[in-house]
Amino acid sequence: MGWPLIGETLSFLSDFSSPSGIYSFIKKRQHSHGRVFKTSILGRPTVFVTGREASRILLSGKDGSVSLNLSYAGKQVLGPTSLLTTAGEEHKQLRRLIAEPLSVDSLKRHFRFIDDWAIKTLEGWPGGPVFVLEEASTFTLKVISSIMMSLEPAGGEQDEFRANFKLISSTFASLPLKIPGTTFHRGIQARNRMYAMLDSMISRRRNGEHEHHDFLQTLLRKHRKEEEDGGDDANKLTDTQLKDNVLTLLIAGHDTTTAALTWLIKFLGDNPHALQNLREEHGRIRNARNSSSYLTWSEVNSMPYTNKVINETLRKATILPWFSRKAPQDFAVDGHTIKRDWSVNLDVVSMHHDADVFPDPEKFDPSRFDKPLKPYSFLGFGSGPRMCPGMHLAKLEICIFIHHLICRYKWKPLDEDSSLHATLVRMPKNKYPIIVEPL
Ligand code: HEM
Repeated sequence: MGWPLIGETLSFLSDFSSPSGIYSFIKKRQHSHGRVFKTSILGRPTVFVTGREASRILLSGKDGSVSLNLSYAGKQVLGPTSLLTTAGEEHKQLRRLIAEPLSVDSLKRHFRFIDDWAIKTLEGWPGGPVFVLEEASTFTLKVISSIMMSLEPAGGEQDEFRANFKLISSTFASLPLKIPGTTFHRGIQARNRMYAMLDSMISRRRNGEHEHHDFLQTLLRKHRKEEEDGGDDANKLTDTQLKDNVLTLLIAGHDTTTAALTWLIKFLGDNPHALQNLREEHGRIRNARNSSSYLTWSEVNSMPYTNKVINETLRKATILPWFSRKAPQDFAVDGHTIKRDWSVNLDVVSMHHDADVFPDPEKFDPSRFDKPLKPYSFLGFGSGPRMCPGMHLAKLEICIFIHHLICRYKWKPLDEDSSLHATLVRMPKNKYPIIVEPL
C-alpha cells in the first residue's frame, strides 16, 4: 500500500512516464501479489484486476458495478451530462440517442469526405520525413470535426478548433488547479471557447441556416421533431447535453483513432508477411475496379483481412491499457472483496498478452482472429454497456486510409524505438518517423 496518504502515487506516476508505461507498475505488483492486488493512489484504495471473469463482472453491467471512474479533471472538462460522467438510465438514454448518427448507415454519407482527405493527406507524404502520429492526428481531427459539425477541413475555423481541442485534451492528465497559467485553467478556458462556438452553430441552425448532414444536425432535428410530435422528454437532448456529448465524442474518438492508425502502420512496417497479405487483399479490390473509379462503400465493407489486422493492432498495442470503474457497492472478484467507492481497474494489457489465449503474444499475427474468440478475452473496443460507440467510424477511417497507403506507397521507418508516450492513450513516443516513396 506504500506510505500513508500518498500510498504508491509516486511509483505509479514514475512508471506512467517510463518507456513501457503503467504496465510496468502493474507487472511488478502482479509478480509479488498475484492477479488481483490492492494499492493506494492519490489517497484512494485502488484495486487492479485482470482476466475474463473479472472482465465479465466489471464490464457486463451486472451487479451494478459499471460506474466509470473518471478523474476530477475529466469530469470538470466533459461536463455533468457527458456519456462518461453519467450512469444507469441516464447513460442508457444518451447511448440510444447517439447510436443513430454513429451507425453504419449514417456513416455512409461521410464516406466520400474521408476518402478525399485520406488521398490528400497521403499525397503530401513522399519526400521529407513524415511523423505518422502527427499526420494521423491531423487527418482524424479533420474527419471527426466534419462528421460532428461540418467544420471545413482547412481555414481559420478549423485552426481555432484545433488549437482549442489540443488545450482541452491536455487537461486530462493535469492537476485540476483553477489557477491562471496552469494547464487545467487553460483547458477550461479553451472548453468555454469551444462551447461558445457550438452555441453559435446551434443557434444559426435553429434560425434556418441551410441543412447539414452531420451529427449535430441529426440530434437537433430529432429534438425538433419530438417537440412537434409532442413526444417524450427522454428522447430529447438539452443544449448542455448536446455540447457535453459532442465534446465527449471528439475527445474519446480522436486520440484513440490516431494511435490505432499509427500503430497499425508501424506493425505493418515491422511485419512484411502481414503487409504482403494486406497488399494482396487491397490489390484484388483495386484490380476488380475500373482504373479511373473511386473506392466504393461496398469495397470498404468487404475487407476481411484488414479487419483482422485492425484487431491484431488493437490487441498488441492495447491503446486503452486499463479500464477504470468505481464500485457502487461491495462486490467480489476472484475471491477478493472490493468495497464501495474503491477504484477498480481492469488491466487489459495482461489479458491481451495472455499466452493461453494468444500464443506467442509478442508476435503480430492477424490470423489469430481467423476463429471467434471466447467472450471477454479481446477488448479492443471494450464490451458491455460501455462498449465503444465509435467503433464503426474508427474502422471506416482506418480501412480507407490503409487502402490508399497500401495501393500507392511504400515506406521505411527512420527510428525503431517502441517506447510509449506518457499519456492515457498508448502512443509511440517517437511518433513513428518514416520516409515514403510512391510504389
Ligand atoms: C480505434 C479507435 C478506438 C478505440 C481503440 C476505442 C476504444 C474504446 C474502448 C476500449 C472503450 C471502452 C472503455 C471502457 O470500457 O472503459 C471505448 C469507449 C468509448 N469510445 Fe471508443 N475507441 C475508438 C474510437 C472511438 C471513436 C471514433 C469515438 C467517437 C466518435 C469513440 C467514442 C467512445 C465513447 C464516447 C466511449 C465511452 C462509451 C460509454 O461510456 O458508454 N471511440 N472506446
